[in-house]
Amino acid sequence: MSDLRIRPAARGDAPAVLAFWRLAAQGTSISDDEAGVARLIERDPEALLLADRDGVLVGSVIAGFDGWRCHLYRLAVHPDARRQGVARTLLEAAEQRFLALGGRRGDAMVLERNASAHPAWRAAGYEPEHQWRRWTKPLADR
Ligand SMILES: CC(C)(COP(=O)(O)OP(=O)(O)OC[C@H]1O[C@@H](n2cnc3c(N)ncnc32)[C@H](O)[C@@H]1OP(=O)(O)O)[C@@H](O)C(=O)NCCC(=O)NCCS
Repeated sequence: MSDLRIRPAARGDAPAVLAFWRLAAQGTSISDDEAGVARLIERDPEALLLADRDGVLVGSVIAGFDGWRCHLYRLAVHPDARRQGVARTLLEAAEQRFLALGGRRGDAMVLERNASAHPAWRAAGYEPEHQWRRWTKPLADR
């Protein structure tokens, strides 16, 4: 959409982003606090991409590249702004960033039970790989 602006988040965006995720995102993460968002922006100032329309935050995606893998997290669109191409535009911006950095494949964590999100990922060209499970270990209380 012509009035949609994709931009990297700044540190001052953290409270608004956290409020936006509570409204629009699926689930929560161990890093969902101001320190977590600030650390992400400090570590990689281009990773958290926000979509604004008329100055209002309508979408987000984290496009993290660690030199090896292109990680996509927190794809979320405001409930009032869905089916208007916001997620598609965010994923295109994320993929352009990955390509510019030498990334080769987008890699998204998508909950099996979050079936309502699957069509958006498929429409953007992503396919599930059924041979993997996520293996995790908490490293800190927060
Ligand atoms: C999933 C989500 C990010 C999609 O955002 P969106 O901006 O509405 O998606 P888009 O408008 O860019 O959709 C692009 C294409 O995906 C497909 N699509 C998206 N949502 C769909 C739906 N609910 N049903 C069917 N197809 C859908 C369509 O092909 C669509 O193209 P079209 O509208 O021209 O038919 C949004 O629904 C959302 O924030 N959901 C809650 C959070 C979430 O689950 N995030 C994903 C975590 S893995």
